[in-house]
Amino acid sequence: TGFVTLDQGFVNTASCSSAITYIDGDAGILRYRGYPIEQLAGRASFLEVSYLLIHDALPTPTELADFADKIRVHTLLQEEMRTFFSGFPRDAHPMAVLSSAVTALSTFYQDALDPTDPDQVEISTIRLMAKLPTIAAYAYKKSIGHPLPYPDNSLDYVENFLRMTFGLPTVRYDVDPTLAKVLDMLLVLHADHEQNCSTSTVRLVGSSQANLYASVSAGVNALSGPLHGGANAAVLDMLEQIQRAGGDVDTFVNRVKNKEKGVKLMGFGHRVYKNYDPRAAIVKKAARDVLSTMDKPDPLLDIAFKLEEIALADDYFVSRKLYPNVDFYTGLIYKAMGFPTNLFTVLFALGRLPGWIAQWREMTADPTTKIGRPRQLYTGSPEREFIPIDKR
Ligand code: CMC
Repeated sequence: TGFVTLDQGFVNTASCSSAITYIDGDAGILRYRGYPIEQLAGRASFLEVSYLLIHDALPTPTELADFADKIRVHTLLQEEMRTFFSGFPRDAHPMAVLSSAVTALSTFYQDALDPTDPDQVEISTIRLMAKLPTIAAYAYKKSIGHPLPYPDNSLDYVENFLRMTFGLPTVRYDVDPTLAKVLDMLLVLHADHEQNCSTSTVRLVGSSQANLYASVSAGVNALSGPLHGGANAAVLDMLEQIQRAGGDVDTFVNRVKNKEKGVKLMGFGHRVYKNYDPRAAIVKKAARDVLSTMDKPDPLLDIAFKLEEIALADDYFVSRKLYPNVDFYTGLIYKAMGFPTNLFTVLFALGRLPGWIAQWREMTADPTTKIGRPRQLYTGSPEREFIPIDKR
């Protein structure tokens, strides 16, 4: 009741208070629990950062080993879950499979879904962290008609995921340690980003006291869109489209500037960063490093460099403060690693999971939390008289 203000897309409205992630969009600053992203990326492992986000402290070696062990013993899916993957068509988008499977997990753990019970929240946290890589790998394996492997718990978190994704029972698969290290670092870069679309979704669903699986599954769906996590795949599609058209970057940029329907510079722009995205700077360097080790350089990297160079010198982009975001170069790295384009956003989801969990836990543990219930400005018809169907 009373005065309602409209803030379309929440451009200027805080939906919550949070002590997890700090962003200063003008200065290009991102910190998890106070630690600058530049200090964490490449130095702290993904599980270390997950622990930090969830528990608000860097783990000691013993705490980290304990956290990793707990996750390790939960990497298996219930056997019934394995049959679940056969129910989808082979070309099902892995993000759709992922969100469905996360919801399905809740059916196996019905005795531990209470968001108000700290022990149940903890075991759900561990289960989700442990099982998401298994689900992600299975979504891919099914799409190419390969058998579903079991996790190998002698491997670490990222190595296990890589082996399940790329290994086969018929050939020996040794995880490339450089590849594992870069992927681990990319997961760290994606681990949290305060109240973005998917995290806000996780919080909104969780504010009704829906369980953690239901909330995270909703977050996966929010992430799937091309304006959010789906941008990493959309960037690659865009680069390939430019390549197919002969590599003419200027023509493409002009189409963007003319606001041709559906043509945007994917991987550019950000609601909060108006100077640069600090994650993009780290990813760009990693892309250079990874792609330079390949036997044959990917011509798409040159197109990306050229696109960035042209855009950064063009008034259309400069005046609108549009810079490369985290998604601009990640796709090229994932491609070099051997991931198919439709799995890119799944990798984003694996990275964002600890952030979603930490934000959901922060919200549910706060006694002042209220159900999320935005208001609206009504623009419909004024009151009118009902007309029975035979009189219409
Ligand atoms: N290419 C061309 N023009 C753009 C772009 C772009 N990528 N992004 C924004 N603009 C223009 C937009 O048309 C508008 O112009 P005008 O003022 O003339 O109407 C102006 O810049 C402001 O844009 P906006 O749409 O009001 O900005 P927003 O804060 O609502 O949207 C965004 C942010 C990220 C959705 C948008 O920049 C975008 O669509 N980018 C491309 C998709 C993308 O890369 N998304 C990943 C975001 S980062 C990681 C993640 O969240 O997953």
